Amino acid sequence: MSEQLTIALSKGRIYKDTLPLLEAAGIEPLEDPSKSRKLILPTNQENVRLLIVRATDAPTYVAHGAADIGVAGKDVLMEAPSDNIYELLDLKIAQCKLMVAGPEREKPHGHRLKIATKYLKSAQAYYAQKGEQVDLIKLYGSMEIAPLIDLADRIVDLVDTGNTLRANGLVPLEHIADISSRLIVNQHAYKTKFKQIDHIVKQFKSVIES
Ligand code: ADP
Ligand code: PRP
Ligand code: MG
Repeated sequence: MSEQLTIALSKGRIYKDTLPLLEAAGIEPLEDPSKSRKLILPTNQENVRLLIVRATDAPTYVAHGAADIGVAGKDVLMEAPSDNIYELLDLKIAQCKLMVAGPEREKPHGHRLKIATKYLKSAQAYYAQKGEQVDLIKLYGSMEIAPLIDLADRIVDLVDTGNTLRANGLVPLEHIADISSRLIVNQHAYKTKFKQIDHIVKQFKSVIES
């Protein structure tokens, strides 16, 4: 019998898009997290379970070994410490772009640009590399509101279809990074549970490359 394997996933788009990959690896959840309130989901494999976590928490569970492997957006990984984690695969799911956005016609302002974002680290690195001094304002969501009510001049946020920006009278201005979700693995677990994890990696890879 192989050891217990714990996989951290967030519900929503990551869960939905990881399901076919898990299925290829022979792993099928016994409950649907969009219907169940249960946060630890058993699977058809007795020794494999899923943890349903907040998207931003997946790297924490994996870094501490509370989960052996997990799936996290590159946007989230760029904000989190990378200690104890290997980023093994680009799963090419939940694809979007990290961008600077703002009103089409910016009001003139006599201060340093104010940027609202939940991506402080990425925004800080982006403006540092441009040599531009800005004031960053940390928000946890609904960033699009900030330029509308003069909390900030611009935002740094994820853009996919652009619908959210358009609906709030904003336009994409600058591209910072292409984002997709990654398979992350606890470094210790990768040694001690290599056979199990390597099997999953290989099966995931075969789906991604097909
Ligand atoms: P949250 O509740 O944290 O917003 P999501 O399921 O919306 O969780 O986002 C999880 C990951 O999916 C993000 O970290 C990002 O990598 C990606 N993502 C977020 N929004 C989009 C989008 N509109 N289109 C494609 N991928 C997205
Ligand atoms: C994400 C992201 C943007 C939006 C971009 O929000 O935070 O607001 O998608 O996608 P679009 O360009 O296709 O509109 P999400 O749908 O995850 O809602 P959330 O605020 O609950 O994270
Ligand atoms: Mg979201």
